[in-house]
Formats: sequence, structure tokens, C-alpha cells
Amino acid sequence: TAVKSPAKSARRSLPESPFLVAARGGKPARVPVWFMRQAGRSLPEYRALRAGTKMLAACFDPDLVCEITMQPVRRHGVDAAILFSDIVVPLVAAGVDLDIVAGTGPVVASPIRSAEAVAALPTLDASQVEPVAQAVRLLTSALGDTALIGFAGAPFTLASYLVEGGPSRNHERTKALMYADPTTWHALLDRLADIALTFLRAQLAAGVDAVQLFDSWAGALSLKDYREFVLPHSTKVLAGLADAGVPRIHFGVGTGHLLGAMREAGADVVGVDWRTPLDTAVSRLAVPGFESGPVVQGNLDPAALFAGDEVVRREVARIISEGRAAQGHVFNLGHGVLPETNPDVLTKVVDLVHGTTR
Ligand code: CP3
Repeated sequence: TAVKSPAKSARRSLPESPFLVAARGGKPARVPVWFMRQAGRSLPEYRALRAGTKMLAACFDPDLVCEITMQPVRRHGVDAAILFSDIVVPLVAAGVDLDIVAGTGPVVASPIRSAEAVAALPTLDASQVEPVAQAVRLLTSALGDTALIGFAGAPFTLASYLVEGGPSRNHERTKALMYADPTTWHALLDRLADIALTFLRAQLAAGVDAVQLFDSWAGALSLKDYREFVLPHSTKVLAGLADAGVPRIHFGVGTGHLLGAMREAGADVVGVDWRTPLDTAVSRLAVPGFESGPVVQGNLDPAALFAGDEVVRREVARIISEGRAAQGHVFNLGHGVLPETNPDVLTKVVDLVHGTTR
């Protein structure tokens, strides 16, 4: 059950934000840019600040969250900050026993693979993520007129970690539960939709300017299975945010075949990885039921940042050119910044994007 918090109350009005203008399908003065995982291990100042503090402890420390979130904004001059947190934070806050293991990712003590385990999954109360809300309040004053993006993991991607017990290449236990016991599967995803919704509404009530729903691993499913087993639950999350009136971004990796369905779930902006050119994405996003054209985000291969100046220039130019096919374009990578990335190259990309005209 969703919290009925006054999701509009604390929000700043940022009519000039190029990111918010583009995310709403408008034409800002310059193409806006931010990077998934822009805060994190690519930055020496992040590694210094995180030394001696575990990932999850950092996520529940409002001052640390604020400072880590600000680091890439100061360094790169990006058009949006993304809240420093993790998709498993609301699960931990609700009482699920899991840890984020460095170099591995989330590891769950007791994987959820039965109807009983699903029934025992705790619900999330907004009070349990109060440190995150506090970090958002600190950030809205620290950021000035730079937009703040909140986020959550989508039901399928959260389910994958809970069912597998950790990161997975093939998601075989997840798919086994999905195919063999659809009733339990839908009960699990419904609970995860509620958790994601409560987490996002708490961020919205505290003042985030946009939200991104990460369904990073949904690309592992066929379109038919996505529609049957995932779409209703992601729709529940995105529909539950509609009254806040902020842009809702929906992203996954390897989702070229799912782009239209991900927009149908209620996305205002659809994230595209590096496999699908933005102009191709725009035609796949032309699904019925929308008044305006699609808004896209993404597409620069995070690995291309290792290939030198000339390649980076060429790729930025190509993506901006192909992005002109969309109603709105937010420049980003096709997935998160890789930890070994030279941060100076990211700053260079921001300057290149800001130097070109739409
Ligand atoms: O700057 C930002 O983008 C905000 C920070 C952010 C983190 N996690 C911080 C983090 C965001 C948006 C996430 C979301 C997230 N977490 C996703 C969806 C996005 C995606 O990448 O597809 C997923 C699948 C996770 C789960 C997760 N958490 C993984 C796979 C890992 C990496 C494990 C590792 O060590 O390689 C984490 C840990 C994590 N989350 C780190 C960071 C900066 C690294 C931990 C550290 O710095 O010690």
C-alpha cells in the first residue's frame, strides 16, 4: 500500500533546468547531461571519503550521502545530481538481511524462493528511510539550481537479487520461480512494487526533482514474458508517482526489444543502452496512447570512454545527432560509469555536450 504523503510540498521550482526542460519534452538552450553512477569509484575524492565506511552505512548517513552526491556536480558540471544510494537500501531499511559486498554487489542472507518467504517479506514504512529523506533535504539546498534525481530499483531487478541471493548472469532461479509458480511470483513483485513506491514517494516528499526507476536486468526477458510477469508491477510503481508531476525515467540494459513496453509502463523518459541507436529507439518508442513524442536518455558506451579523445568526440557528436529524432534528449551513458574510468574524460564529455547545439 502506497503512502499518501504530500509528494508535491517540498519541491523547488527549477524552470530553467535544461535537464528538467528536456525530460518534459521541451527544447532547452543546451543538451543536458548527467551520468549513471557519476558518484562513486571513478572519483578519487569519493574513494577518500568512503575509506573505512561500509557502502550501506554510507547510504544511511545523510551528511555523507549529501557530500558524495555533490562531488560529481562540482567536478564535472553535470546538469543533474543523482542521489547517492543503492537499489537495495529500501530492502535493508525494511529489515531484509543483506549486505553490499565490495567488488560483488548485493548478497542476501536468506534468498526468497517460496510462497512462505514471500509472505514473510517485510513492508517498508517511510520512517525507515528517514535518513535518505534527510539527505534529500540537505541536497536541495546545497545544489542551488541543479536538479536532483531520486531513484529506486524496479520490482524485477530487486526480485532477481532476492531470489538469486546475489548478482546473477542468467537469472535462472528467478526465472524458475516466475515460470513454475506465477502466483508466488506476482505476490513477490507486488510487494516489491510497494517497497519501491514507498521509497520513491519518501524521496519526492523530501524534494527530488525527478525519479529514475532502474530495471537494469529486465533485458534478460522476452517481450512476451516482460509483458506478463513484469509490466503490471512496474506500471504500478510509475502510476503511483503520477500525482507528483515530476519526470519519471525508466531504464534497463539490453532492453532494445522492450523499449515500447517500458514507455507503456508510464515512463516520461526512457533510458537506452549502447546497443540501440537513439533514432532507432525513438521509432520503437512510438507506441499508442501518448500525446507527445518520446524523450530518450543515454546511449554512450561506458567502454568508449577508454578509447581516446577522437573516439569520444565522434561518439558524442553521433549521439547528439541521433538524439535530434526525439522530442527530448538527455545525454547519458548506456549504463553506469565503470570504476576505472578517467574522471577527466567525463568532464570532457560534459564540455563537448554543452558545446554543441540542439
Ligand atoms: O551516482 C549514481 O549513479 C548513484 C549511485 C548508485 C549506486 N547504486 C551506488 C553504488 C545507483 C544509481 C545504484 C543503483 C544500483 N545498484 C543498480 C541499478 C543501476 C545499474 O547499475 O544497473 C544496481 C543493479 C545496483 C546493485 C549494486 N550495488 C551493484 C551491482 C553494485 C556494484 C558492486 C561492486 O562493488 O562492483 C553495488 C554497489 C554500489 N552501489 C557501489 C556504488 C558506488 C559500489 C560500492 C562501493 O563504492 O564500495
